[in-house]
Amino acid sequence: MKHFLNTQDWSRAELDALLDEAAAFKASKFGQQMAGKSIALVFFNPSLRTRTSFEIGARQLGGHAVVLAPGKDAWPIEFELGTVMDGEAEEHIAEVARVLSRYVDLIGVRAFPKFVDWSVDRQDRVLMGFAKYATVPVINLETITHPCQELAHALALRERFGKDLRGRKYVLTWTYHPKALNTAVANSALTIATRLGMDVTLLCPNQQYLLDERYMDWARQNVAESGGSLTVSHDIDAAYRDADVVYAKSWGALPFFGNWEAEKPLRDQYKHFIVDERKMALTRDGGKGLFSHCLPLRRNVKATDGVMDSPNCIAIDEAENRLHVQKAVMARLLRG
Ligand code: CP
Repeated sequence: MKHFLNTQDWSRAELDALLDEAAAFKASKFGQQMAGKSIALVFFNPSLRTRTSFEIGARQLGGHAVVLAPGKDAWPIEFELGTVMDGEAEEHIAEVARVLSRYVDLIGVRAFPKFVDWSVDRQDRVLMGFAKYATVPVINLETITHPCQELAHALALRERFGKDLRGRKYVLTWTYHPKALNTAVANSALTIATRLGMDVTLLCPNQQYLLDERYMDWARQNVAESGGSLTVSHDIDAAYRDADVVYAKSWGALPFFGNWEAEKPLRDQYKHFIVDERKMALTRDGGKGLFSHCLPLRRNVKATDGVMDSPNCIAIDEAENRLHVQKAVMARLLRG
């Protein structure tokens, strides 16, 4: 049984087929691919785009979505094996995933890191627990990667540049945020941009903001296969110069994981990583490079009003594309 946990588990041909199907859904939004089918959307964290686009998407394909928030409107869940469950959790993932599988045809899971111990969070235990015990396909709605966002981003780039993105200069830039955030979207952007054969620059303040070796390895493996390239830079102007795409995300420095008070004075030194008009003017053709972000975004902290309101900002297109790519993923998984 195929899950959608990471794009890296799917072949390039399969990803291209998903993007083609998503483009078809964008052109013609209603179908019966989920007629009589349902999806459980299990949210351990808040969402605007993911929840809305999955619920609407299932409906547009003739299906039904049930949203659950364990610990709020559903019982708290235990994920450890062999635990004496005398704490908060009322039931075990072994029962939760198998029971839901008797009711629904797909399960989506959003579970951010706990932000205490990266060696634990990087195991992605919640998502993997659902994948282990569910007897229906599981979709990652963002855990330590965000593969649905990757597809939406890729579709938005294809819409501007065509299907062949090889050779495009792609900058994934770290930006400041007052809180240490998840690395999921950064891991995902690095993964999909290298998979699509782009010349990728990871721009971050210093070596402490590099991403986990698993994703750096995926990126190296991808460029070896796709013919793209991977560069790590701490030089803002050099990274932006002639870029076709600037993608922004903030994340916490992994060496400080769980010790965020100690990271904060370091992070506070790099507020100038904000995406602004001066930096975007360095991009291709005198400032015609595209800008995007997964959203939500704090204006004038991560990117200025001018950048967000520019015709070269494709963040809203990318957000819309969540709907189309997720319909493609659901339809594909239901076909088996
Ligand atoms: N980009 C994204 O996943 O948005 P939400 O957190 O609002 O779902």
